[in-house]
Amino acid sequence: MKPRPICDGVQWMGVVDWSRRLFDSLIPLPDGTSYNAYLVQGSDKTALLDTVDPAAKDVLMRRLADIDRIDYLISHHAEQDHSGTIPFILEKYDQAVLLCSSKAASMLVDHLGIASERIKTVEDGETLSLGNKTLRFVYTPWVHWPETMVTHLIEDRILFSCDFFGSHVATSDLYAGSDPYVLEAAKRYYAEIMMPFRKMIQNNLKKVRALEFDLIAPSHGPIYDQPEGILAAYEDWVSDRVSNLVVLPYISMHGSTEAMVNYLVEALAERGVRVQKFDLTSTDIGKLAMALVDAATIVIGTPTVHVGPHPNVFFATNLANTLRPKLRYIAIIGSYGWGTKAAEQLAGLIPNLKAEVLDTVLCKGFPGAEAFSALDALADTIREKHTSIEATAA
Ligand code: FEO
Repeated sequence: MKPRPICDGVQWMGVVDWSRRLFDSLIPLPDGTSYNAYLVQGSDKTALLDTVDPAAKDVLMRRLADIDRIDYLISHHAEQDHSGTIPFILEKYDQAVLLCSSKAASMLVDHLGIASERIKTVEDGETLSLGNKTLRFVYTPWVHWPETMVTHLIEDRILFSCDFFGSHVATSDLYAGSDPYVLEAAKRYYAEIMMPFRKMIQNNLKKVRALEFDLIAPSHGPIYDQPEGILAAYEDWVSDRVSNLVVLPYISMHGSTEAMVNYLVEALAERGVRVQKFDLTSTDIGKLAMALVDAATIVIGTPTVHVGPHPNVFFATNLANTLRPKLRYIAIIGSYGWGTKAAEQLAGLIPNLKAEVLDTVLCKGFPGAEAFSALDALADTIREKHTSIEATAA
């Protein structure tokens, strides 16, 4: 794919990575991703906004084959999928100045070995003239690291947002249009990458809303040419609102915990509570993260393995704690063989979740009438709690 014009003097210079299936050695990429760099050529000066993952370096260098001069290289974010090719750009364009936020400067030195004399920091709100085009830099910390910022191209009304509003999608489409699939991918991206920083993003959204733009050009996924959709979605995701939804990740080794899980799912459904159930032997953790974006409650289902929770449940619980979803309630259910400390160990894994711990329902062996009755009581409690949330929100 060649550089693609966005408007006069502005081009997409990115790389679509159709085959990548894992990010940060953790995050599944079912639909690949892209690393979007953009070239802005003013009447006097030229700026390159971000670079690409080092694995895609050669593609970016080919795109730049006919570009003789770059005056400014703007780094919105020091993570290597955007910064990894900076050293090669600085080598090719030896007059280029690397511009970044004050926090990014040392990170670019530490992570990429960039000579500090090539770096100039910009202040929050500072503007840079390229002649007939003006760039305004806006600090947006914690989307996704502490140093992140965005750039507003004032005359052409474009917001270059880097990870903010991104989506891991490989596509030949330059623009998202109103494709609901892109919004779904953006929600997955938010859940996996941004959710831990929800409170900080609330402030960043207000800063971005104060700017005037018609396009949001992120560094992953297509450009938003109808930006209101993604802005409204983000405002919903970062809000304090939760929905009448239980997320139920679980493992079952011999069917006992699964019998409890299935019973609870039906009991909740009968009471009008939605449930998303995830078998952790096969689930896509990105889907689990998405479900956690607005769920009110998590119920963790685990058998006991050598006194503690199953290792996959341990992992999923630790992940939920790391992602800091806005859950209000937590419960633990499961079966054990002869003794268990699973509930205590799981409770110790979730210090970041500011949620009320509801009942724990553990049974020895296959569940019987007593366990099912306790699960009915748990379903009653969850329904009651969710009803009170809905009443408060109304
Ligand atoms: Fe796309 Fe945080 O890097």
